[in-house]
Amino acid sequence: MPYSDQQLGEMVRGDSVHRALYTDPAIFELEMQRIYGRAWVYVGHESQVPRTGDYHTTRLGDQDVLMVRASDGRVHVLYNRCPHKGAKVVADGDGCVGKFFRCPYHAWTFKLDGSHLGVPLKQGLEGTSYDPTDPTFSMRRLPRVESYRGFVFASQARDGQGLAEFLGGVRSSIDNLCDRSPVGEVEVAGGIFRVMQRSNWKVFYENLHDTMHARVTHESSFAAARDEAKEIGEMPFELHIMDGNGEPYEFWEKLELRAYDNGHGYMEGIFNPGAAERDPVSRAHFESLTAAYGAERAREILGMNRHNTVIYGSGSPHTVFQQFRVIRPIAVDRTLIEIQTFRCKGAPEGVFKRAMLYANVINSPSSNVMPDDIELYNRCQEGNATRGGEWVSMHRYHGTDRRDADGMVSVNGTSELPMRNQFRAWKNYMEAGPVAPAHGQGEGACC
Ligand SMILES: [Fe+2]
Repeated sequence: MPYSDQQLGEMVRGDSVHRALYTDPAIFELEMQRIYGRAWVYVGHESQVPRTGDYHTTRLGDQDVLMVRASDGRVHVLYNRCPHKGAKVVADGDGCVGKFFRCPYHAWTFKLDGSHLGVPLKQGLEGTSYDPTDPTFSMRRLPRVESYRGFVFASQARDGQGLAEFLGGVRSSIDNLCDRSPVGEVEVAGGIFRVMQRSNWKVFYENLHDTMHARVTHESSFAAARDEAKEIGEMPFELHIMDGNGEPYEFWEKLELRAYDNGHGYMEGIFNPGAAERDPVSRAHFESLTAAYGAERAREILGMNRHNTVIYGSGSPHTVFQQFRVIRPIAVDRTLIEIQTFRCKGAPEGVFKRAMLYANVINSPSSNVMPDDIELYNRCQEGNATRGGEWVSMHRYHGTDRRDADGMVSVNGTSELPMRNQFRAWKNYMEAGPVAPAHGQGEGACC
């Protein structure tokens, strides 16, 4: 063991963290066990597996898992491993296996809940300890799976908080995302962008609520948007969202930062009831929600002016433009970001088009904005690998964080409260020691 629990705890101070948290592969390995071995982690959305046999593969920490729809409509989350030779049963991606899984190596078969179905030439196993009812011969389900409004999460730990309690105050972000549909449901649509970043996974979470970087890091993109707007004499939506990063410091100082246990949080602007009537797309959206919920509630839903939300260990849902940036740690210096965009079922098509436009302009591999961030994440990765200093600072407004009935709140929108809160969770996970391995077949189903 390269680090004792105490040494791990000492690497997180109230106002700074040790650079090894970003650069040491031994710490990354411990994070996979102690954070990703415990936390609820977003696997995917139910709409990605609409029919029996549909599957979606992903990574839960360093584990290859898949989500699959069974014939009874339930969604199972399984480790992607055949119990015979250990081969991944399905290739990475999305697809449909039909009524059962069949390993492409020796044709062992499994029901859609992972349980053992059969092997060819079964007589060759007679008289051995092969037992089709023993989970050793099944695809293993994860210990726990739960869905919150269609968002499927899994945990590799048998015990712990339920999903709703784990999410705490950021449940309201998922609620608002779904409530923007007149039927209260969203679905993944329009494909998924994937971006591999040459940096540690934690930097991305920190940056989501890092309001001090916007007008510095993104100067080239918001300045280009302003130049273009001047030239064409208007500021269309795609330039407007690039321009936003250029707001003066006073704007960022007024934002409210909320922080919750387990590292979660969100960033919110002043409630904006005018959002409902601002432009033709918003007006049509408002009308469709008014028909479903009444004007007052529709105004409340569209007026919620929430920017990035952090679900620590999973990623970042964005309520206003209906997306989920899923953050998958790959190695100590590699992180895969998957950008899922959602359609609000029953809402006018313009709402989805706007969400796609936002994803393209801000988060796609060809975005003019995201590369600004990626460049800086990589500079942090490489700079922290030098011997030029041992600690990473999170001092801004340290000592002023307030706790109220709803969690913690910043005194200023430029506070580094969110980072301090994320590392408070990190420390809790890491000091808690190893996770006992879950034996036998897991519960692993929801919906
Ligand atoms: Fe940024």
